[in-house]
Amino acid sequence: MKAAQFAAFGAPTEVIQVVDKDPGPLAPGEALIEVLATPINPSDTATLTGIYGILPKLPAVPGNEGVGRVVRVEGTAPVKPGDIVFLPMGSGTWRTHLKAKAQRLLPVPPGADLLQMAMLSINPPTAELMLHEFVQPKSGEWVIQNAANSAVGRYLISLAKLEGIKTINVVRRAGLADELKALGADVVLEDGDDLDQRVREATGGAPVKLGIDAVGGSGTLRLADAISEGGTVVNYGIMSGKAPLISPAALIFRNVTLRGFWLALWMRTAPREAQAALMAKLAKQVAEGTLRAAVDATFPLENVREALARSLEGGRDGKVLLTPVKA
Ligand SMILES: NC(=O)c1ccc[n+]([C@@H]2O[C@H](COP(=O)([O-])OP(=O)(O)OC[C@H]3O[C@@H](n4cnc5c(N)ncnc54)[C@H](OP(=O)(O)O)[C@@H]3O)[C@@H](O)[C@H]2O)c1
Repeated sequence: MKAAQFAAFGAPTEVIQVVDKDPGPLAPGEALIEVLATPINPSDTATLTGIYGILPKLPAVPGNEGVGRVVRVEGTAPVKPGDIVFLPMGSGTWRTHLKAKAQRLLPVPPGADLLQMAMLSINPPTAELMLHEFVQPKSGEWVIQNAANSAVGRYLISLAKLEGIKTINVVRRAGLADELKALGADVVLEDGDDLDQRVREATGGAPVKLGIDAVGGSGTLRLADAISEGGTVVNYGIMSGKAPLISPAALIFRNVTLRGFWLALWMRTAPREAQAALMAKLAKQVAEGTLRAAVDATFPLENVREALARSLEGGRDGKVLLTPVKA
């Protein structure tokens, strides 16, 4: 049994190593799971680099979500060998096998696309919650987001479309408009200094009360300048590596609010029933194909360095996933 592990923070492709790891005997109520698919998310590479908001004790196995197949259970349990289940969040999923409390395991809907299901637990709820927790846009109203071709951005386009909410989608490179419009995007704009003006032209001056920002730095500033008086910018990532900026014109003279969102905090405080209802709704939408993230490539665990290198390249065609055990 193998795991990708790191014992020091640094360049992800340099600090990661594949090691032998014995999961040890199962305790009563535990299940042994073989990992079928687990994505590489920006939070994983930021953790490896040592710049994420919370960092693990080292050595550590990265990976926070995925799907796997139950191999063995000890004692009575709600799952049996052969069942396909979601991996518990934050369980260090970049490995061939992991142990988990069987009671915590939730089944993957039968026949579902396993790569899509492996990406269900983090980005879809992030998109759904940011769309509704801060400002409650109604059908026909506008929201704006940057990094719109990211996985979160694509889920947000689809979720907004389902509710008739119109989206302005800011990307950092040309050539993405057709793809995002096919998902339901209303407007796709390249980021740049005159963004506020181009947004006004696209919406005919209609209010834009919610801005969703994964870029940080001057990306936040341009988004805040493009939203309407009294609007809210929700920052949830800093793909630029820079802290969010906001102009005095937006903050003081147009009363724009800058907020932050972190899914882990929401999960710490939201009632269990609300969490279960959200995940059930999103799992159904992913199973039906209403919600999808693009997949750039998959790699076996032994090629984790190549997988990390690809995940760190700009201009990918979607997510990079590890497939430690063949489905
Ligand atoms: N706060 C939370 O709870 C939470 C939860 C989930 C995700 N996130 C964050 O959400 C963000 C997106 O995650 P994801 O998994 O959806 O990402 P992803 O699918 O891996 O896509 C990354 C995106 O970032 C863009 N990008 C990369 N570097 C950039 C830069 N310097 N300036 C502008 N854009 C840049 C890429 O554009 P190109 O295609 O042009 O390269 C791509 O659109 C990440 O920051 C992640 O940490 C936060």
